[in-house]
Amino acid sequence: MVDNRSERLILEMRHITKIFPGVKALDDVNLAVRAGEIHAICGENGAGKSTLMKVLSGVYPHGTYKGDILFEEEKMNFSSVRDSEKYGIVIIHQELALIPQLSIAENMFMGNEFRRNRAIDWHETRIQAMKYMAEVGLEENPDTLIKDIGIGKQQLVEIAKALAKKVKLLILDEPTAALNEEESAHLLNLMRKQRERGVSMIMISHKLNEIAEVADAVTVIRDGQTVGWMDTKEGKLDQDEIIRLMVGRSLENRYPERTPHIGEVKFEVS
Ligand SMILES: Nc1ncnc2c1ncn2[C@@H]1O[C@H](COP(=O)(O)OP(=O)(O)OP(=O)(O)O)[C@@H](O)[C@H]1O
Ligand SMILES: [Mg+2]
Repeated sequence: MVDNRSERLILEMRHITKIFPGVKALDDVNLAVRAGEIHAICGENGAGKSTLMKVLSGVYPHGTYKGDILFEEEKMNFSSVRDSEKYGIVIIHQELALIPQLSIAENMFMGNEFRRNRAIDWHETRIQAMKYMAEVGLEENPDTLIKDIGIGKQQLVEIAKALAKKVKLLILDEPTAALNEEESAHLLNLMRKQRERGVSMIMISHKLNEIAEVADAVTVIRDGQTVGWMDTKEGKLDQDEIIRLMVGRSLENRYPERTPHIGEVKFEVS
């Protein structure tokens, strides 16, 4: 892999604590993402991964959590998702948020419509939609309704939509969970391509093989706490180590202890 990453941090989340009634979802979590990298976040179900990304993107606004968010070295106090998007942070949720009855192009520019003489400029909308659809490899008519395309293509619409917003940090929450093998491979390639263009990404995933394939670094969260950080600079990510951190015990301990019995040598090759 060509390592053109910088050491500059695009994002730092410091001492993030988020409490829901009766649940401490995040307890003093730290996360550092370098500019231009794909940073994976791993952890078991309920560890706090999605909550951390909702804090980052303003779903849970400033004042509803403790701790600091530094984006491009500046302290951020986002009041909404729209607010974080102004800075170039775009989140694609675990549950896709497109409107089934609207077209690809309408979904892409909802809330950011092109206007001419105070009316929506549909010609420009289609041209711009096609430009970003080509960028993500989505071969469809921009007028096709979301309900008429599969989940893999819907995911591409979400990414095209993010690119249209001039995304700097793209957050993908379990992007391949509902995709088939071919769609997943396409998505991972697209992520690599966007990394080459300088887009930083945070990817939440349970699929360690995919993480090993594309991620430059991994942060592991367990029970609302950061328990580890790994980097590919020293070589491939160690999937066993990630699992060990996720579950909080070593893999060997998952099985009862056994004493191997090795008999005498019956056959030898020299
Ligand atoms: N809106 C909410 N209200 C109350 N509790 C919540 C809310 N959202 C999340 N939680 C709780 O916070 C904890 C962390 O949840 P979160 O969704 O962040 O986990 P996750 O790591 O994304 O899990 P998964 O892998 O299943 O998506 C869980 O105990 C969850 O039940
Ligand atoms: Mg989640």
